[in-house]
Formats: sequence, structure tokens, C-alpha cells
Amino acid sequence: MQRYELAGADAVRAMQELVQRTWSPRSRLHVGDVAWERAVNSGRRGDTWRTAFWEDGGQVVAWGWAEPDHLSLVVDPGRAEVAGDVINWFQDLHPDGACSVLEDETQLVDALEKAGYQADDEAPFFTHHRIELSDLGTPVVPDGFMLRHAKPDEVQKRAAAHRAAWSDLGPSKVTDEDMAAVMSTWPYESELDWVVEAPNGEFAATALIWHDKVHGIGLVEPVGCAPAYRRQGLAAAVNLAALHALRDAGAKAAMVCPRGDDAYPTARALYQSIGFRPGARSKLYVRR
Ligand SMILES: CC(C)(COP(=O)(O)OP(=O)(O)OC[C@H]1O[C@@H](n2cnc3c(N)ncnc32)[C@H](O)[C@@H]1OP(=O)(O)O)[C@@H](O)C(=O)NCCC(=O)NCCS
Repeated sequence: MQRYELAGADAVRAMQELVQRTWSPRSRLHVGDVAWERAVNSGRRGDTWRTAFWEDGGQVVAWGWAEPDHLSLVVDPGRAEVAGDVINWFQDLHPDGACSVLEDETQLVDALEKAGYQADDEAPFFTHHRIELSDLGTPVVPDGFMLRHAKPDEVQKRAAAHRAAWSDLGPSKVTDEDMAAVMSTWPYESELDWVVEAPNGEFAATALIWHDKVHGIGLVEPVGCAPAYRRQGLAAAVNLAALHALRDAGAKAAMVCPRGDDAYPTARALYQSIGFRPGARSKLYVRR
């Protein structure tokens, strides 16, 4: 087995290959998580990242992403013993770092506990939600608003909509260049990137879905509605419209991973209101 490391952001496709090859409903990450998290943040934070790959017989069997003191890792379940190598690598970089996994990823939980990490039960967490696409509600928007998918040349409007939706949580740092990176990262498809266009032409609400065609499952990430347009059903409608497009593209189900703790209940209320049902949660492991 060999290990190699990449500095910066140039690893998305190799990371996604392992995610897709080993994905199951018990996986923390979907190919869309890797696409979104790496693409939207690489311009501002990529130079602090380290990414290591463990390869055996020409196949990647594990990777770890240190950003810089939080570890994300994916390990082939058939090679669970490599989890210890990933954690050791991270621990050498950051002896006091943290790592989050899905509670269902029991092999990773075992490896973290063996390395001296403990669950932080007070930390924010994310709850996986799933919806089958066989029985979706109908998206409805108020008169004058229009539902459609974004176009590849609408990067600036798309980025402005994202910044507006997150503006009341602190100024969003996402730039037009960050959004351009998102929109050129596999498996982005503008046909699955939906917007509600307001009467003045602004994008009032948006919902982006990443489609893993091997597993027939989409990941909704992210959804937003600008404060001025909230509580009119726009986020629900744009989400449903994107889910219809996902079903038309051949997927059977979709998932979304909103905060599960009570400090941020809004997003999960939205997703549950359109039929997503909660499943496993993530857990943060820290070394004390
Ligand atoms: C979460 C968010 C997208 C909701 O947008 P919205 O257009 O106001 O949502 P909708 O009007 O479509 O709401 C649909 C349902 O979601 C739930 N919901 C939405 N906002 C809520 C809130 N502030 N409190 C409680 N429930 C809420 C309700 O069940 C609502 O139905 P109702 O209005 O009939 O009660 C918006 O507040 C936002 O952009 N927040 C910041 C970004 C974010 O958290 N995105 C989601 C995580 S990726």
C-alpha cells in the first residue's frame, strides 16, 4: 500500500471516486458533498488543506482531508483497518483536532475511539434525511414568481442569491469565482440547479441537487431563500421543482443533511415539511 498527499484543492475527482465506489445509505458523504465543500471553499481556504490518499493495487482505499484541524475521512469498508492509518496521519498534523462521522459508520467510530477520541455530545450535528421520489408534492409559487433551472452563464446572479440567502447568518464570503468553481465541478448540472425568479428578475430562492447516477440518489446542497422573500413557500417550491427534475433524470431518491440539533431547526423543518424523513446523525469526535 502506498500513501501520497496533495496540498490544496486538486483532489476532488479522486476523492469522489472512492465515495461513489463505496457509497451506501450508511455513508456520511455523497459525491455532491465533496463537490460542494471543496469547490465553494477552495478559493478562500484551499491553501490550508492537506489531503492524503491510501492506494493499494492501483485503487484508492481511503482518503483523509485535514482542513486544517478537522478531519473528514472515507475508508473502503472492506479495508476498515486503514482507518487507523488515516487517523494517525491526521493526529501527527493536529494532535488536538476533531473528526466528524455518521453514527452508522461504526468502523470509523471504533477506529476513532481506539485512537483516543471521544464523542462531543454538545457539538452541533447533522441529521441525514431521505425522500423517495415516487410521490412528490407539486411546487407552487406566488403570482409573478417563476420556477426554472439556472443557466450556465448566470454565475453572478446565482452567487448573489447564495450570498443573500445566508446574509442574516453573517456576511457570506462566497464570491462569484467560488460559485463558478461550484458550477464547473462534476457532477454539477444546471438542469438540477433550480431558482425562483422574482418579478424584478432577482433569484429569490435556490436549490441545488447533485446526482449520483450510479446509485440513483441526489443530494440537496444547498437550499436558500433571501430574507426579504421568506415564509411564502419559495424554498419548499424550489426544492420540490429540483426534486421533480431529479426524478425526470432517473433518480429514485434524494437525501439532505441539515443541522439536527435544536440550535438551528429551520432547515430541517423545511425539509420535513416537503416529505424528507430523518435517519442517522453525524457525531463530532474530539481528542481531549
Ligand atoms: C431555511 C430557508 C431556506 C427557508 O426558506 P423559506 O422560503 O422561508 O421557506 P418556506 O417558506 O418554503 O417554508 C416551508 C416550510 O418550512 C418550514 N420553515 C421555514 N422557515 C421556518 C422557520 N423560520 N421556522 C420554522 N419553520 C420554518 C415551515 O414548515 C414552512 O412551512 P409554513 O410556512 O407553512 O409553516 C431560509 O430560511 C434560508 O435560506 N435560511 C438560511 C440558509 C439555510 O439555512 N438553508 C438551509 C440549509 S442548506
